[in-house]
Amino acid sequence: MAISIKRLHKHFVGEVSGLDLRKPLTGRQANELHGAMDRLGVLVFHDQDLTDEQQVEFSAHFGELECAVGSNVLKPGQRRLRLEMADVSNMDQNGELLARNDRRRMFNLGNRLWHSDSSFRTIPSKFSILSCRSTVSKGGNTEFAFMPAAYEGLDEGTKSTVKHLVAEHSLIYSRAKLGFDEFTEEERNTFAPVRHPLVRQNPVTGRKSIYLSSHIGRILNWPIPEAYDFIRELIEHGTKPDFVFSHKWRVGDLVMWDNRQNMHRVRPFMDLGEMRDMRRTTVAGDGPTMDQGSDKAV
Ligand code: OGA
Ligand code: MN
Repeated sequence: MAISIKRLHKHFVGEVSGLDLRKPLTGRQANELHGAMDRLGVLVFHDQDLTDEQQVEFSAHFGELECAVGSNVLKPGQRRLRLEMADVSNMDQNGELLARNDRRRMFNLGNRLWHSDSSFRTIPSKFSILSCRSTVSKGGNTEFAFMPAAYEGLDEGTKSTVKHLVAEHSLIYSRAKLGFDEFTEEERNTFAPVRHPLVRQNPVTGRKSIYLSSHIGRILNWPIPEAYDFIRELIEHGTKPDFVFSHKWRVGDLVMWDNRQNMHRVRPFMDLGEMRDMRRTTVAGDGPTMDQGSDKAV
């Protein structure tokens, strides 16, 4: 059966049918999906009852996978899923709901802020692939904001301001926005800020994006409050309803997005009452965006 892709939003997002992701993709199918990702930024698949192994195999068609270490505050023995899977559920290693004041839950609440996955790494991720194994009855949609459209919607003055700017990203900055600052010395070292240009260009389509994320806490050579204010303004602009798509989850959904071209966030839900079992594989980026010792974007 041929792959068919239906556009779900005027700027981005495709709904894919005609594929059973439990089976290995052909080279041609993988290329077709890759091309669709470049153009549409987000792809939605339904009724994909995958094992973790099948999700990893599907994801590996698009590049090397990130290891989930270094992006959370799990202590040894607290990991529920294999290393190639980021656990974005509200559950502990025994499958029990996390308590309200559990440190892991408080840290994960950062996913409710607009962000781009792994923008806190020197090689930030390319694609994220999120599978819904169980979901909640109310709330918990994931929203996506398309950054090429946001960039193209900037006025010329702002386009020339953002052009050469470099931002510093860290999990410490995003968590601070929710008042979470309980990091150990070791975590502070792991989460040390990294630099990325504020404008990125898709290598295939040539479209530019504002590379935004709530992990941003500094703009190089700018006063801190001015940087925060400017980033807040850009996020406000980039997440206007016109640029946003909201996905309501059903069990068996798999959503894949390009972190170089989107921000996303999860909407609130009553996470203390119901399990929301979401498992993410993450395809690493092709390389660093810039020399970390430099203040120039490449
Ligand atoms: C993620 C994420 C949102 C969600 O997986 O990167 O931010 O809906 N998840 O759980
Ligand atoms: Mn995320």
